[in-house]
Amino acid sequence: MRRSGEDFRTIWQKPDDPTVVQIIDQRRLPHEYVVADLMSWRDGVHAISEMLVRGAPLIGATAAWSLYLAALESRGQPDRNKFIRHAAKALAATRPTAVNLRWAIDRVLGVLGRTEHIDEIEDTLEQEARKICDEDIEICRAIGEQGLKLIEEISARKSGDTVNILTHCNAGSLATINWGTATAPVYFARDKGIDVHVWVDETRPRNQGSQLTTWELAENKVPHTLIVDNAGGHLMQHGLVDICITGTDRTTRSGDVANKIGTYLKALAANDNNIPFYVALPSTTIDWTIRDGLTEIPIEERNPDEVAKIYGKAGDKFCTVQTVGSNTAISNYAFDVTPARLVTGLITERGICAASEDGLTTLFPEQSGLAS
Ligand code: MRU
Repeated sequence: MRRSGEDFRTIWQKPDDPTVVQIIDQRRLPHEYVVADLMSWRDGVHAISEMLVRGAPLIGATAAWSLYLAALESRGQPDRNKFIRHAAKALAATRPTAVNLRWAIDRVLGVLGRTEHIDEIEDTLEQEARKICDEDIEICRAIGEQGLKLIEEISARKSGDTVNILTHCNAGSLATINWGTATAPVYFARDKGIDVHVWVDETRPRNQGSQLTTWELAENKVPHTLIVDNAGGHLMQHGLVDICITGTDRTTRSGDVANKIGTYLKALAANDNNIPFYVALPSTTIDWTIRDGLTEIPIEERNPDEVAKIYGKAGDKFCTVQTVGSNTAISNYAFDVTPARLVTGLITERGICAASEDGLTTLFPEQSGLAS
């Protein structure tokens, strides 16, 4: 995507001071575009935990850049390796569901382990963080090209009438470095002149749909409509959805998909209405070590306050209002698991496949012998 016509990234080094990493404070969108500085690895922990940044690929990239900051901060420490590994442990504990976090940390620690001279670690970790970001952009671009085929087919079948795509949460540019996963095919289709329209689920409690997906679609002039989370089934019953495309935080080698809470209900409704339900899946989000999503994927439970309160802007001030009385128990599961049988297909950077071990390992044969 572009912002105000300019190329866009969600995380970068400060142009006049590469020892500072900058992010967009996503809590302030769509009202304000605020850039936040990460000056230490602890700032990275805070940014991920408090969701200044979120979305599986961006969480991983932020952890990688935070380890670079840890490398800078380790100057003068008696054991620089130990210092960085301590930071890695704290970063890994921030959010349990998105596997990109573990993937990125393991990748950076692997590079650290192979660095022969300790005085090279700052450069090495900086390069690795940059590579992770550059690769993510290419992966998302490829997902866009692959997913475009599905939208083209629907458009041809409808003789050029509007293709209505339903998405949940924000699996957009803001969740990655650019392009997004679920949104990349939409951007490619729009650029090809295909008439597209996106139904955006609000995505309570953190409102990633109403605050983030709407913002980036508006920035890119993609026609879209915001709906409450419970509206999708009704729209599907009335022929107003042609395809669902969501992202994922962790997909097992057998194709079970963990994604933002409510995704499963959309997949059930899509299944009941014979509407294709696709998941856009960068290979960095596949957990090749597990098969059963329901029992093996840790589901994050967040602060009940996110459910009890709503955050927004009143006049020129940000504020939080309480919507529930004080004597009510609240649970706040942040993700759910959609079983592979409800997923029509996975859109990966290498092609589209069935949500199954066979489907995934046909595209990623290097993983075929690695089951746990
Ligand atoms: O809690 P969040 O905002 O980090 O959840 C994000 C999602 O569920 C996305 O759909 C997922 O990370 C895929 S991002 C390409």
